[in-house]
Amino acid sequence: MPEKISIAEARKAESVGKNVILQGWVRTRRDSKGGFSFLELNDGSCFGNIQVIAEAALPNYESEIKKLTAGSSVRVEGEVKASPGKGQATEVQAKSVAVYGFADVETYPLQKKGHSFEFLRTIAHLRPRTNTFGAVARVRNCVCNSIHQFFQEEGFLYLHTPIITASDCEGAGAMFQVTALNLEKLPRGENGVDYHLDFFDRPTYLTVSGQLEAETYACGLGRMYTFGPTFRAENSNTPRHLAEFWMVEPEAAFFDIFDDMDLAERLLKRIFSDVLQQCPEDMDFFNQRIDKTVIATLRHVLDSEFRRVTYTEAMEILQQSGESFEFPVAWGSDLQSEHERYLTEKHFRQPVILYDYPRTIKPFYMRLNDDQKTVRAMDVLVPKVGEIIGGSQREERLDVLEMRMREQDLKPEDYWWYLDLRRYGTAPHSGFGLGVERVLLSITGMANIRDIIPFPRTPGNAEF
Ligand code: 4AD
Ligand code: MG
Repeated sequence: MPEKISIAEARKAESVGKNVILQGWVRTRRDSKGGFSFLELNDGSCFGNIQVIAEAALPNYESEIKKLTAGSSVRVEGEVKASPGKGQATEVQAKSVAVYGFADVETYPLQKKGHSFEFLRTIAHLRPRTNTFGAVARVRNCVCNSIHQFFQEEGFLYLHTPIITASDCEGAGAMFQVTALNLEKLPRGENGVDYHLDFFDRPTYLTVSGQLEAETYACGLGRMYTFGPTFRAENSNTPRHLAEFWMVEPEAAFFDIFDDMDLAERLLKRIFSDVLQQCPEDMDFFNQRIDKTVIATLRHVLDSEFRRVTYTEAMEILQQSGESFEFPVAWGSDLQSEHERYLTEKHFRQPVILYDYPRTIKPFYMRLNDDQKTVRAMDVLVPKVGEIIGGSQREERLDVLEMRMREQDLKPEDYWWYLDLRRYGTAPHSGFGLGVERVLLSITGMANIRDIIPFPRTPGNAEF
């Protein structure tokens, strides 16, 4: 009986001699003068295709096999043979080729190679069939698996935090509102819309971060991580921003900011080394076709220690750099991506962890330093992408936290449950958020975050 196996399996030299069934999509068909055809078949199990040889003697050779074009789906039964061809260990001599579905040459959009990424975004439902999007999907899977393994091994519990929330973690107000009210007929009260008539009896939103809820579990169970989609309604049309993105957020009791930095560095290194080890074919593709430096950069990061630099030191470096930046460098203002890139690409040439940012540019929950001017924030910056991790040591002192909330026009009563963590057995704790798409940008060298997530949500774009 032939064995149903993946193309990844069939491409291994050990499979020679096996009778197999392969199922996948035709990438190309070439007809040879000698009376047979070559089909390049791909099933997504690996980057490479397998070559199938279909002889003219097969009963459906003229009627079907010679009509196969890119995108058609088939089931091939045959024997795996050692391949005389270069760059492939095996090929399959077909005993039968059954067609599941043809793809019309006239209308199938992926008939030709070399489409632009912009065009492929307009066919997000078909782009998984291209080399690039197959490679992105496999590397993305590897990264997520690596994240879970890392935290499990480090003793963190995987926690599901809610998608619908009533609190604005980042205090930035860039949230998507969730309502069951009829927007055409909103119930009005004395102060505008009457949310007592809404589903949750209050205004609710899609979460921007699972941090506040993760803190509640960390302040009781120690080490937690949440990993899910997060949503930001900011109108940022950049190659690094999405309105819906995936974030992994560890939160650990009794961690100070330096423990937090060490955890972040270990996590990134683990992800990078897993990808290099587990996705070599996909990484070779990115290195050859997308960015010739990606593999060398990842290896360099693995070998170097991340630099830890305070925000104040970074501002001095930028001021003395002699560069003419578009945005001014002044203590108290946020770093722009040109500044982040100067630090990581030109000055340090390696990942940098900036910490102790001005209190005025960071959220209420970050621990206030004794200088009263800065907070225990830390951002991890990498070459080309800039910030990929944002985190902090959390404010564990009740009075200081309440003061910081008022300072940012937040009502402490609204956060009573969050403040309870400080009222009862408060403990120092820290955490961070790693943007999965940002880390994938840095791994693959892809230029646009819209090509890193299967179905990008950006301003004006939610069709697929
Ligand atoms: O720096 P951010 O906003 O931090 C937080 O949300 C904290 N609550 C995390 C924590 O401490 N638990 O976001 C964290 C990371 C950023 O460094 C970036 O990698 C990514 O999330 N990120 C985005 N990625 C894509 N599109 C966006 N609009 C993003 N905003 C943030
Ligand atoms: Mg940030």
